[in-house]
Amino acid sequence: MAEQVSSLLVFGSINQDIVLRVPEFPEPGQTLKALSTSRATGGKGANQAAAAALQGTTTRMIGAVGNDPGGSEARSALEAAGVDTSPLLVSDGAATGTAYINVRGDGENTIVVEPGANAVLSGKTADSVFADARWALLSLEVPETEAMEFATRAQRHGVQVALNASPSLTGPLPQGLVDLLIVNEGEISSLAGSAWEQIEDLPTAVGVESVVVTRGGAGVDLFQRGVPVQHVPADAVRVVDTTGCGDAFAGVMMAALTRGAGYQEALRQATSYAGRAAEHPGAMSAYFLISERDA
Ligand code: RIB
Repeated sequence: MAEQVSSLLVFGSINQDIVLRVPEFPEPGQTLKALSTSRATGGKGANQAAAAALQGTTTRMIGAVGNDPGGSEARSALEAAGVDTSPLLVSDGAATGTAYINVRGDGENTIVVEPGANAVLSGKTADSVFADARWALLSLEVPETEAMEFATRAQRHGVQVALNASPSLTGPLPQGLVDLLIVNEGEISSLAGSAWEQIEDLPTAVGVESVVVTRGGAGVDLFQRGVPVQHVPADAVRVVDTTGCGDAFAGVMMAALTRGAGYQEALRQATSYAGRAAEHPGAMSAYFLISERDA
């Protein structure tokens, strides 16, 4: 009997998040006192992998950490979510990445990332990583060229490629490499220009089959070649912290597609989960809280 093709590969960053709750974002030259501080595992890739695995989808993380306590904590957090961490690279020469996050009272954030070991992640992964994979999800807090190398290998192994172009791509998207692009409004503007909403066939214009544009409280739009735009509204939520909501969205959407759901159902699940994530503090920590509540 043929092996079931059902796992999700997540290629991306792993960080230690240092979170400061602040009364406001500091202006240049201003010194502020934080209201509270906390630390937790984060990173766009790690958050996405955790969110996907917590949905019960078989998820494998391809990322890099330092040979340090932050790296060990990240591995433990990912494994607690059910992520297969066997492909993780442990660098002796670079420390685990660190993200310095300010969160304001309205839940908005600013993030500055020190890449550390994320900068040495390689896309030249062993062929065994691709066994039984249906989708690969990539984000860009790791070297862009390595992400594209990984995407090329995934495609060669018959694995569909989803790119969460966050942070924004610095160059054009290679044509025909990505099946699904997941971006927010700022990221699609930097790829397709600020008049992107006027483009008749957005997927063809950016060289992919499908584009999902997330619009925060205004919901999500799905653009597919030859199909009218489909909109999924967001739920009304009490926002505490928006950190990692985009990662929650991407992870849950890809988890659903990997399990065989259609796009509409995957978007519905992802939109609802991202809204719930905004109601809790932290990124990955919010996903664990959701799981506890649902247990
Ligand atoms: O998207 C949220 C994530 O961005 C945080 O966890 C932080 O690590 C930064 O990478």
